[in-house]
Amino acid sequence: MAPIAGRLTRNDVRRGLPSRVGVGIRYLSEIGPTPPPLHPSEEGILGPRAVAGRQALFALGRAAGRDALRELGFEHVGIGRGEGGQPLWPSGVVGAISHSSEIAVALVGLRNDYVGLGVDVEDPARDQIARAARLVCRPAEMAWVHAEADTRRLTMLFSAKETIFKALYPIERVWFGFEDAELTWFPQRGAFKARVLKSVGDGYPVGFELDVNCTVGSGWVLSTAFVPAGGVPWRT
Ligand SMILES: CC(C)(COP(=O)(O)OP(=O)(O)OC[C@H]1O[C@@H](n2cnc3c(N)ncnc32)[C@H](O)[C@@H]1OP(=O)(O)O)[C@@H](O)C(=O)NCCC(=O)NCCS
Repeated sequence: MAPIAGRLTRNDVRRGLPSRVGVGIRYLSEIGPTPPPLHPSEEGILGPRAVAGRQALFALGRAAGRDALRELGFEHVGIGRGEGGQPLWPSGVVGAISHSSEIAVALVGLRNDYVGLGVDVEDPARDQIARAARLVCRPAEMAWVHAEADTRRLTMLFSAKETIFKALYPIERVWFGFEDAELTWFPQRGAFKARVLKSVGDGYPVGFELDVNCTVGSGWVLSTAFVPAGGVPWRT
C-alpha cells in the first residue's frame, strides 16, 4: 500500500466514522518554545516529576482535545484523567487522545451516537515495534504481517489494537491485552475487522466485532475505532 503524501488532516481522521465527530490535530513543530496552555483543572494532573517532553505532549494532546470539543460546541473545558489514564470528557461526550513523537490527535463524539471512540497515531519509523511483533500479534496476524517485508503492517496492527483499547477501556474499565483481539485486514475498506476475544462488560460478550479504520501516511499511521450507540454484532 502506498502511503498518502502530506500531513495528517481532519478528513483522514473522520474517514470511516459513521456519525458526527470532533477532531483536533496539533503538531509539536508548530508550538514554539512553550507548550499550549493547560486548562486550570488540568494543571496538577501530571505531577512535578514529568519530564519536559512528556509535559509538552500532554499539553499538545489536551489542546487537540479542546479543538475537537469545540467542533461539537464545547468551549474552554478541562479534560481530566481517570485512574486508568483515560481522558475524562464533559458529560455526554466520548473520545480519545493520542500522540506520536510529532503529532497529537484527539477524537470526540456524542454519547447519543457512540458508546466509545478510539484514536491512535504512530510514527512508522519506530524500530522497537519490529521487535515487539510476537507480543502484539496472534498467529494469523503474524502471517499477515510477515507477508510484507517492511514493518508497516506491524505498525498498522499495533496502532489498531491500541485504538481498540482506547475505545473500549472507558466503557467498563476492563483491561485487555494484545492477544485479546484478532484483526483481519480489508484493503478495499482501508479497515480491520476486529474480533474481541474477551468480554469487556454487559453487551460486549466474547466474540463481539468492531471496525477499525487504518490510514498510512508518509511519516504517520493513524487508526480510529468506534463502538456505535446501537450495539455491536458478535459471533460465538
Ligand atoms: C494506554 C495505551 C493504549 C496508550 O497508548 P500509547 O500508544 O502508549 O500512547 P498514545 O500517545 O497513543 O496515547 C496516550 C493517551 O492514551 C490515553 N489513555 C491512557 N490510558 C488510557 C486508558 N486506560 N483508556 C483510554 N485511553 C487511555 C491518554 O489520553 C493518553 O494521553 P495523556 O496521558 O496525555 O492524556 C497503551 O499505553 C497501553 O497500555 N496499551 C496496552 C493495552 C492495549 O493496547 N491492549 C490492546 C487490546 S487489543
